[in-house]
Amino acid sequence: MPLTPLEIQRVRDWLATAARVTVLTGAGISAESGVPTFRGKDGLWQGFRATELATPEAFAHDPKLVWRFYNWRRELLAPVKPNPAHEALVRLEGKVPQFTLLTQNIDDLHRKAGSRNIVELHGNIWLVRCIRCLRVARKEEVPLPELPTCPECGDLLRPHVVWFGEALDPADLERAVDASRSCEVMLVIGTSAVVQPAASLALVARERGARVVEVNLEATPYTHLLDVALHGKAGTLVPQLVEGW
Ligand code: OAD
Repeated sequence: MPLTPLEIQRVRDWLATAARVTVLTGAGISAESGVPTFRGKDGLWQGFRATELATPEAFAHDPKLVWRFYNWRRELLAPVKPNPAHEALVRLEGKVPQFTLLTQNIDDLHRKAGSRNIVELHGNIWLVRCIRCLRVARKEEVPLPELPTCPECGDLLRPHVVWFGEALDPADLERAVDASRSCEVMLVIGTSAVVQPAASLALVARERGARVVEVNLEATPYTHLLDVALHGKAGTLVPQLVEGW
């Protein structure tokens, strides 16, 4: 049997003795489920110019086009299943007294896996919001009508996701900052750490004295500031961190 790498063992020890653990995930944790990452070679939005479609301006200008894009994404995500990394985080939540999962992903895979205390910083692809009465509802049918409307007030629905140039929900951001400030260990999994304010949550945790561990295929702009960087696939590494203690 191969020896357990020292770094993995260190992280296991930290997790095993921590009362509060916070995890921040990005598109990389869903890559092994078949969801393309944003900035990878097969980036979901390459060729689709996400910065043009996933914006309030694009929606105001051409809501049908934006809804076609989101219907396509919903079709892509509907059959996708959680992978061993998502599943390991469910087991971690069961072991740690206080556990918070902060995700930048809108794919719903953490919930599908069974995680409970989740903050979806960028929203959820299966939720819609009325642009007038702001009512949020879960709508799982695929595709939605070309221009879906609110059953309450009749105005247009939009995806309940955070678009480029939009602020995060203040309540979500507050929960995320609190969980980052108060944790003893933070795992940062599969994020390129370039989109703020999510990326800086790792530094908030670090400044408050938490052990911060990155799991990624490669180094990120934050790697040198963190305690441990584990380079490899989340689906292989995350289960190893959660086992054996
Ligand atoms: P990115 O696509 O920017 O980064 C994905 C990261 O995952 C990269 O650092 C990869 O090296 C890593 N990665 C890929 N496959 C992996 C694997 N199997 N195991 C471990 N790591 C892997 O995605 P995000 O960081 O999530 O925002 O992007 C952040 C935000 O930018 C998104 O939420 C989205 C986007 O613009 C909004 O939509 C508002």
